[in-house]
Order: sequence, then C-alpha cells, then structure tokens
Amino acid sequence: MTRVINIALEITEKSLSQELSLQVQDLNDIRIVSLNSPDKNLRPDIVILDDVNDPAVMFNRLRKLCGSLPQCAVFLVSSDRSPQRIVEMMKLGIAEYLMEPVEQEVLHKAVEEVRARLESSGKVAHGSVYSFISSKGGLGATVIAVNSAVALAERSREEVALCDMSLQSGDASVMLDLIPENTIMDICENIHRLDVALLRGAMVKTAAGFDFLAAPLKQEDYQSIKAQHVKQIVRLAKKVYDHIVVDCTSMFINECTVEAFNASEKVFVVTDLSVPAVRNASRLIQLMCKVGVDSNKIEVVVNRYIKGGILSLEDVEKTLKRRIFWLFPNDFSDIVTSINHGVPLVQLQPQAPFSSNIMQFVKKIQDPQSVGDYRGIRGKFGKAI
Ligand SMILES: Nc1ncnc2c1ncn2[C@@H]1O[C@H](COP(=O)(O)OP(=O)(O)OP(=O)(O)O)[C@@H](O)[C@H]1O
Ligand SMILES: [Mg+2]
Repeated sequence: MTRVINIALEITEKSLSQELSLQVQDLNDIRIVSLNSPDKNLRPDIVILDDVNDPAVMFNRLRKLCGSLPQCAVFLVSSDRSPQRIVEMMKLGIAEYLMEPVEQEVLHKAVEEVRARLESSGKVAHGSVYSFISSKGGLGATVIAVNSAVALAERSREEVALCDMSLQSGDASVMLDLIPENTIMDICENIHRLDVALLRGAMVKTAAGFDFLAAPLKQEDYQSIKAQHVKQIVRLAKKVYDHIVVDCTSMFINECTVEAFNASEKVFVVTDLSVPAVRNASRLIQLMCKVGVDSNKIEVVVNRYIKGGILSLEDVEKTLKRRIFWLFPNDFSDIVTSINHGVPLVQLQPQAPFSSNIMQFVKKIQDPQSVGDYRGIRGKFGKAI
C-alpha cells in the first residue's frame, strides 16, 4: 500500500501559497496538514517553506523547524538562483531547493523521493543473495546466474534482481539482449542519496520477469566502484527484493566481490570436470576463506557435466574436500541458441535439459528438503548421482 505523505505549507507570500497549495493538491497520495498538529498521524513528512532573503531569519526558521520535526524533509522555494545561496541552504539541512516558479514535475519527483525513503526505512531485509563465480573464464557462471534469476522469478512469483558484478566486463546484458540505459554507476555516483527510488531507477526491467542491475558501460569505470557502494546496494536490495542473484568475474576477487559474498546465503563456485578448472576451484576456495568468506556458504557446482569424463565426481570431491552441490548438464546447442536470441534458455525453451535442471537447482537452494540427495543428474535406473 502506498504511504500517504503529509505536507505542511509554510509560505509567507500569499499568491505563492495559493499556487503551491494547488500544485500540492494535484499530487497523488498526499495530505495537506498544519505544522503543529497534535495528532501523530497528521505530523508533516515534508514542510515547504519560502525563502526570505535574510540569512539570520532563515537560519532561525530552519533551526526551529529541524528541532521540532527532526524526521521531516524541508523543501525551500526560492527565486535566488545563486549557487552560493543553494549551498548555504543545503548546509542548513534542507532536503530540496526548489526554484520559483516551481515545476510540477520537479515537485512530484522530490515528494516521491521522500515517500520512497520513508517506505524503505521501516522495511526489514528479507532477500536471499546467491553469488556465482567461475573458477576459470568461460565455465558458465553467467549462463547459470541469468537462468537462475529467471527460474527464481518464475517459481516463486516474488521479486528478483540480477546484479552484474562482473564490473569490468559484464556480459549478462548480452545474454538478455539489453543495452542498458542505467547501470550500477548511476547508484555509485549518487550513493549519498541511495534509496528505493534510486535503486529501482537504476535497474532495467527484463522481459524475463526480474530487475537487472547492469555493470558499468565503460570498462574503466569499475575502478570507481568501492566496497562500501556494494555493501549499501546489497543491503538495500535485500529489503526490496526477495532474491538477489549476483554474477561475478571469473577467478577474481576484490573488496567489492567480498562484500557480495559476505551478504550471500550461498556462494556457488562453478567448475567443470577438467584438471585446470578443479585446481583453480581449489585455489579460489582457499583464497575466499582467507579473505574471510564463511566456508560453510561456499558450494561447488559442476557445469557441462558429461558422464565418464577423465575426472570422476569422487576425484573432484576428494581434491576440494567438499561434496559437490549440483551438476548442470552439457546442453551446448540449446544454450548457444538462447545466447544468440538474447533470451535466457529457461524462458526460451523451458523443456530443454538445462532449463529443467535449473528449475530443480533453484528448488534445491530455496527448499533443500524437497529435493533430498538429488544433484541435478540421474544415473542408471534413475538413481540420483
Ligand atoms: N551447461 C552448459 N552446456 C554447454 N555450454 C555451456 C553451458 N554453460 C555455459 N556454456 C557455454 O559456455 C560459454 C561461457 O559461459 P559464461 O559466459 O556463462 O561463462 P562465465 O564463466 O560467466 O565466463 P566469463 O569468464 O566470461 O565471465 C557460453 O557462451 C556457452 O556457450
Ligand atoms: Mg561471466
């Protein structure tokens, strides 16, 4: 349900007061209230003030207001366009500096930002984060992450986000046939005002039913993304989305990936049954543990599984000293077709072997009991291997 926003108008100039009152009444889900209502439900969320060109008077007005209504956002309407004045007023704690005449669209956006902030502030983080990282380039982390996001959205009908944390060379957008207008950079550049509106605004809605946060378009921009940004983004995403899938750069860990891993319920290390990939998986897991990632949340998954390869599952489990969590089948032609169409396979061909396997995989991560020992592939006589 949309939160109703209480707005108090404290405008000294009569014609401006009338004009703004009409503009405010035109907004959706707002209530005009008085500044000092004794009823708690009618306390203002926003106070709109007009500028009096006397610094001492303005200072006192704002100090009194912020003292009596500390949670309230103050919008100042002014005809003074000088940057110095804007900076001065922002320093005094106003939330918005609105130029006179106030444009309806600008006012609407400012009110919606306050609404989004208030809506998110009371929310409890409930979203589950699942990260995917390949132990070697090209082993399939992105294919698995993208299709898992589709499967989670289809299976649960809950809100799902896919974050491309392959920050230098993100290619999940290619698999979704998207040229994103917004990316994670839009958030990082405005991190001081991160709220639900900014997060959702940076996401691209996909036809596959989930929201997508794209990696920077310019390769060099990845350097501007800091661990603190990732921490804040994931923390808020957990309040907004039920499931967050994170696609990471292969065999590479930095402070940003560590933040994503630490926020994750599970970190899936993707390998295949080749000696170099398994050796790298072992080194990668050691490195992850060394930088403080909880070993219990790391799970090994094997992609492109073919029976009778050089390495057996037992060999791999012995080397990695952990049980393999899941096996994804080799389904090259279907996956290549889906990549060429820019449509995830689960959506394009739900009956394809890889698609039905992914549906079972997300079932296992959401509700392990329902799948039991099954790990994605059946052996002779339909027995789970
Ligand atoms: N289960 C599978 N069966 C057959 N081919 C697969 C499978 N999964 C992935 N592939 C192939 O592997 C290629 C690489 O996959 P993907 O881009 O997901 O790997 P990655 O680990 O994310 O690589 P990068 O290091 O570039 O991030 C895909 O283009 C696809 O052709
Ligand atoms: Mg990838």
